[in-house]
Amino acid sequence: MWRYRLQCFECQRVVPAHEAGFRCKTCGGLLEAKFDLAGKKEPDWNSRQPSVWKYRELLPIEKEKSIVSLAEGGTGLHHCKRLGRKLGLKNLFVKNEGENPTGSFKDRGMTVAISKARELGKKKVLCASTGNTAASLAAYSARAGMECIVLMPKGKVAGGKMLQVIMHGAKLIQIKGDFDQALEIAMKLSEQRRELYLMNSINPFRLEGQKTLAFEILYQLGRVPELVILPVGNGGNISAAWKGFSEFQQLKIVKNRPRMIGIQAEKAAPIARAVKSGQDKIRPIHNPQTIATAIRIGSPVNWPKVLSAIRESRGTAETVTDHEILEAQKDLATLEGIFVEPASAASIAGLKKLLEDGSVDRSETVVCVTTGHGLKDPSVLGRLPKSQTGYNLEITDGSRLEALERIL
Ligand code: F0G
Repeated sequence: MWRYRLQCFECQRVVPAHEAGFRCKTCGGLLEAKFDLAGKKEPDWNSRQPSVWKYRELLPIEKEKSIVSLAEGGTGLHHCKRLGRKLGLKNLFVKNEGENPTGSFKDRGMTVAISKARELGKKKVLCASTGNTAASLAAYSARAGMECIVLMPKGKVAGGKMLQVIMHGAKLIQIKGDFDQALEIAMKLSEQRRELYLMNSINPFRLEGQKTLAFEILYQLGRVPELVILPVGNGGNISAAWKGFSEFQQLKIVKNRPRMIGIQAEKAAPIARAVKSGQDKIRPIHNPQTIATAIRIGSPVNWPKVLSAIRESRGTAETVTDHEILEAQKDLATLEGIFVEPASAASIAGLKKLLEDGSVDRSETVVCVTTGHGLKDPSVLGRLPKSQTGYNLEITDGSRLEALERIL
């Protein structure tokens, strides 16, 4: 591992290793791990198998024996020619994070954060979640033999994710309220009870794992895409990806960085609202709504990092409706064989909108990140139009063949 220091994202104060908590004690800012990359050369990464740990020099784990892994990372970057043709775009790629062990990008961060927890001697881990963080944490804590507590908004989490949390033996606490309230409680709890180690994306070690998404995109594509489009909820992933692109630029592996585009659901879009109205702060949204429950978030904790990534990269943010999300989900599944959950399809829906209004040039190379697997949320079946849900024809004897042939 290369040397790093933990420091405040706002005031740059270096945070001593023994200082607990994930906020700067001076200004309350978010923390980040800063690697000292001056004079560093690209290690022999090409000789290693694709995975998060391939980039171990850039991950903040001191001892190899601390590593807890389920073989995360190394997900596919798929050239989507048929969907690209429909959208009028030649170079459309989908980085499909649903291919991770628990079915979402969270595993990239979780393998690093749980390894850090082990290195720090923690025995109990905690998170608030719209589902995927909880599913991932439940699996990794089971693998590490740690106790796991998750807080989730009651009635607002997709069925597959609930099943994962329960199956991995986490202590599931459902709260009346939304994700923002669950996170507030989790942050307070972890401050009061130091034995509970908080694993939300305010934990800077988690974002270090998530930044490997950017490294993989660059290696797999063999060049820097003009645009990277991600769904945004709490804002950890887009900030982590930007950090990853920036580190490869500092290492002189690439010259440029892509424009970062964040997509939010129309009624859960504090970041997109701030970007579009040129504000340098967000205004939280109360009672956010969307069928994309993973990104049903009104008060994203990582907003300063997100606004800075979008601004520095000359990117933007956009909103999409639930209808546009469902359409994009179906398009990606039928045209490319890639089944993603609604929140993930927001990146495709957002691209479509940006192409239509001329913000994206059709000659540009675009990578859409799809963040979670479609099987996580079977409730979508109930929302599909009847014409898409198949035929109701029971075949009992030969005479029904005629009816069958009529359908075919
Ligand atoms: N896509 C999916 C499938 C997610 O589960 C999430 C976040 C996001 C996108 C947004 O990522 O928060 O880094 O901006 N899910 C969190 C959870 C909040 O609890 O599982 P972000």
